[in-house]
Amino acid sequence: MESLPNAVTIKEVGPRDGLQNESEQIPTEVKVNWINLLSHAGFQSIEISSFVNPKWIPQLKDAKEVAMGIERKSGISYAALVPNYKGLQAALDSNLDEVAVFMSASEAHNKNNINKTIDETYPVLSEVVQEAKHHKKRVRGYVSTVFGCPYEGEIPFNQVAAICEKLLQMGVDEISLGDTIGVADPKQVDAFFEEIKGNLPFSKLAMHFHNTNGMALANILVSLQHGITTFDSALGGLGGCPYAKGASGNLATDDLVHMLHKMGINTGIDEVKLREAARYIQQSLNKELNSHQMQIYNRTTKEAR
Ligand code: HMG
Ligand code: MG
Repeated sequence: MESLPNAVTIKEVGPRDGLQNESEQIPTEVKVNWINLLSHAGFQSIEISSFVNPKWIPQLKDAKEVAMGIERKSGISYAALVPNYKGLQAALDSNLDEVAVFMSASEAHNKNNINKTIDETYPVLSEVVQEAKHHKKRVRGYVSTVFGCPYEGEIPFNQVAAICEKLLQMGVDEISLGDTIGVADPKQVDAFFEEIKGNLPFSKLAMHFHNTNGMALANILVSLQHGITTFDSALGGLGGCPYAKGASGNLATDDLVHMLHKMGINTGIDEVKLREAARYIQQSLNKELNSHQMQIYNRTTKEAR
């Protein structure tokens, strides 16, 4: 365990990945209030929404209003997903600091999620990256279904690596590798890093685990052991991808922060303020959050009553 980092960066994706799967429309004001609470908890980066076709993701149709409504705290990079040039223009109009392009390692998920083949996707993303860079925006590239696709099963690691190389050639600053449906196991994650070692710059990689099978924290540990220091998570374990059958919630930020702090790894996040943000969204959604931290909180506060 000597090789573990002293500090990591956690990117909160709850307002986007966490909420995109919620079927009841959440008021814009709730999203804004929640992001403001998250801003005070100490994150360096918050993904606030998506500028996608609202017919595909109705929950996030108020991306612009959210972006214009939130407090902008200095030192925080406010980010949003953009699938194409139209989405980028909306993100630029909303004065975001960072945009994220996205595609999948598997053809079938790519088609289901963004209605294009992998080859058709490259020029679309390339144009977005170029234009975003021209506007001095930070750009991240998501690759989904890295450890398994709901339609195609396991995807060869060299297929994932080839996509990452293309994204890096386009000029993305960082790649987020998504276990979209939460099927990765620690041995598979280890094998993945061994395979790509020397081919991809680990300092530019972030890991994005979903927790369907309860292995997300174990996968984080393996990633830490390989020197990865950036992770995505959603507070309370909210989330899922509507175009990936079987996808469940993201790794819960509160569980991740708790584990890292127990291990003496710094995140810059204040657990008390994080709890406040979790309680706020739990109350607003009127359902108990899935994270271990919130389950413990809910049990103990109920017992106290
Ligand atoms: P399309 O239908 O092929 O698009 O969708 P199109 O270019 O043919 O245009 C069709 C209509 O969409 C037109 O409107 C466009 O204006 C409109 P119409 O003329 O019919 O009225 N349109 C847009 N509207 C608003 N914003 C835009 C936009 N672009 C086109 N940006 C498209 C292609 C990519 C737009 C669509 O498939 C889409 O929006 N997909 C979004 C899917 C999505 O958000 N999925 C969830 C996020 S990915 C994820 O969760 C995984 C991740 O978390 C990592 C992991 O876990 O692995 C990131
Ligand atoms: Mg996701």
